[in-house]
Amino acid sequence: MMVNKLRCCQWIALSCLITAAVVFSKHHDNIVVIAGNPANDIVDIINKNRTSQSLSQLNNSPGLGCIALQYVEQCKGNCSRNNTLSCRPLEVDFTEIFAPNCGVELPTFGTLSGHIVGCQHKYLKPSEAFSHLLVRDKRSLSLLRNKTHTEVGVGLIGSYKHKGPYFWCVLFSDSQANSTFALEDLGQGIKQKKGCYSGTSFSCSWGHKNRGVYLNNIWPIGVYCFYVIILLH
Ligand SMILES: *[C@@H]1O[C@H](CO)[C@@H](O)[C@H](O)[C@H]1NC(C)=O
Ligand SMILES: *[C@@H]1O[C@H](CO)[C@@H](O)[C@H](O)[C@H]1NC(C)=O
Ligand SMILES: *[C@@H]1O[C@H](CO)[C@@H](O)[C@H](O)[C@H]1NC(C)=O
Ligand SMILES: *[C@@H]1O[C@H](CO)[C@@H](O)[C@H](O)[C@H]1NC(C)=O
Ligand SMILES: *[C@@H]1O[C@H](CO)[C@@H](O)[C@H](O)[C@H]1NC(C)=O
Repeated sequence: MMVNKLRCCQWIALSCLITAAVVFSKHHDNIVVIAGNPANDIVDIINKNRTSQSLSQLNNSPGLGCIALQYVEQCKGNCSRNNTLSCRPLEVDFTEIFAPNCGVELPTFGTLSGHIVGCQHKYLKPSEAFSHLLVRDKRSLSLLRNKTHTEVGVGLIGSYKHKGPYFWCVLFSDSQANSTFALEDLGQGIKQKKGCYSGTSFSCSWGHKNRGVYLNNIWPIGVYCFYVIILLH
């Protein structure tokens, strides 16, 4: 009798452990570990692509990058199941919402000469995001290779809890490089809580700490173990 009970407990413990292992390994796959600043990587890829065609490099503007981040912030919720994004912020939002949120000095707000946006439920590496998401047709390639651009800014943001979809935005400007989209506070601007943008060394933030996500996954295991123990008693 005693031995049976002991075996039973071992089984309970084992089944709980296996469940925990499965849930945790599954969860581990979902955690997106992003090193550095992928928005800067996109700018590098864009500039390499341009120079391969003997076009000028574009100035990596943090002010424009932050505006790009604000742009995709507004697009959250508009990514379809098939990863198409329909999103068009109002013209006035650029100067009335995006610029103040970034700390871009309004008189230095330049002209935008093009934009590319995309979303994907899975996180893509910058090189994949560039070729599979941002520059995948003739229209976007000719936009990328337009001679009139002088500056570029890239913004990237994920949705909540380390999950997709992820939103990317590239903005081009043809204004005089280095004097437009100036950030107040000696170029510091206003620190952004979520996502990341090019022209800075800040790494990406998804706005949630890992611990919260782990705890979310631990309580169903607890409930499961409790249920198994009650059932077998
Ligand atoms: C993707 O979804 C959108 C809206 O849900 C639809 O308008 C569009 O045709 C779809 N595109 C493809 C390639 O399936
Ligand atoms: C997101 O989609 C909704 C519904 O189609 C639309 O009304 C809204 O304007 C879109 N948001 C942006 C920023 O374009
Ligand atoms: C390049 O961009 C400018 C400004 O947006 C536009 O007027 C021009 O038509 C574009 N050129 C090409 C070749 O697409
Ligand atoms: C530039 O980008 C286009 C579109 O993704 C790609 O087909 C081409 O190979 C790229 N060129 C270089 C030199 O990377
Ligand atoms: C803008 O500033 C960068 C870095 O200070 C410099 O490398 C670049 O040549 C400047 N571009 C123009 C057009 O002045």
